[in-house]
Amino acid sequence: MHVTHLSLADFRNYARAEVELTPGPVLFVGRNGQGKTNLVEAIGYASTVSSHRVSTDQALIRFGTDAAIIRLRVQHDDRAIVIEVQLNRSSPNKARVNRGAIRVRELPRYFSSVLFAPEDLALVRGEPGVRRGFLDALVVQRSPRFAGVIADYERVLRQRNTLLKSARASRVPAEAMTTLDVWDERLVELGTELMVARWQLVTALRPHIAASYTAVAGEEHRTRVGLQHSIDGAEAVTMIDDPDAPLDPAATRERFRSVLAERRRAELERAVTLVGPHRDDLILDLNGLPARGYASHGESWSFALALKLASAQVLRLDAVAGDPVLVLDDVFAELDEGRRERLADAVHDFEQVLITAAVGGDVPDRLRATTVRIAAGAIVDEASETGGAG
Ligand SMILES: Nc1ncnc2c1ncn2[C@@H]1O[C@H](COP(=O)(O)OP(=O)(O)OP(=O)(O)O)[C@@H](O)[C@H]1O
Ligand SMILES: [Mg+2]
Repeated sequence: MHVTHLSLADFRNYARAEVELTPGPVLFVGRNGQGKTNLVEAIGYASTVSSHRVSTDQALIRFGTDAAIIRLRVQHDDRAIVIEVQLNRSSPNKARVNRGAIRVRELPRYFSSVLFAPEDLALVRGEPGVRRGFLDALVVQRSPRFAGVIADYERVLRQRNTLLKSARASRVPAEAMTTLDVWDERLVELGTELMVARWQLVTALRPHIAASYTAVAGEEHRTRVGLQHSIDGAEAVTMIDDPDAPLDPAATRERFRSVLAERRRAELERAVTLVGPHRDDLILDLNGLPARGYASHGESWSFALALKLASAQVLRLDAVAGDPVLVLDDVFAELDEGRRERLADAVHDFEQVLITAAVGGDVPDRLRATTVRIAAGAIVDEASETGGAG
């Protein structure tokens, strides 16, 4: 799929913007702080319902205004649809597809993009929550019904924690907590579903991560991925090497259930749920060592980029509606000449690739045929170098 038109109203530093986009590579250039990232952030938001830079939406709404609008015209094969999200400062956000209201969390059903930005270094170096967020967003992109499963899991978790807190306050003995059993059952059911989906996702990503790492770094480094399941204990890591060994839902459910029973006393003492996918982690190894803590800056960066390129590959293989839109924010400036060319090779056949750069010359020529210039929250011109206009 590709975006043919982007409209913004009161989004970040854009009062109004209208941008026509073509398939293939599109480069956004402009000096620092002009609005390049803001523009692609809007596109990313429309596909994942979140920003890669901020965890709350307030900063996305233009300063001094109450609501931002992102509208995209998206082409899926020969079908065009219009997607619209309205971010409201003091009421719930709204989403529409072809003018019909949809739930905001349903957006990933209609539009798919993969965005890589310098912030993604946190995928390798950051806390486990960053990696869980990465996996879950991709699980939802692959099968949108998981937006509901994850929301339900989080709700059950909150309610269970509230119950644990009130039990602790009123000193109810662990054995007498029969109301907790009902929540445990829901937690196990939904949690297992999520664990299985993450496992399947990592299994699908695995070969593409290895290939993308080599493609970007140009070196044969050995990447391995695994999952750390809190129901198996804090140290237990299962590396995923064998694509034919799926996580067995029945056995996982059983283990989850029995660990919850074992840990109930400890959970009542601490008044939090100690095991479940909300405490799991994605493990990334490079040449036999955990990338987090051992990999160099360049290696961490290549690994993070490889995770995103692998995501795009997996979505490409899943999708009936064509490739996800690939977004590379400020990537080329970080790379040496060889890596720039290799990255260009790795992305050139995606249906649409949106690239930002402060210095156009940092981006290989073949990705610069269509260049959009941005200054102070406005599109100053759209130059097609191949067409000779501009
Ligand atoms: N909610 C907002 N309202 C108004 N302006 C905003 C808002 N959020 C961000 N900005 C402004 O947007 C500008 C940053 O834009 P953006 O991050 O897109 O820059 P950029 O072109 O990607 O720059 P760089 O090359 O440094 O990455 C800043 O000047 C910032 O003050
Ligand atoms: Mg930027």
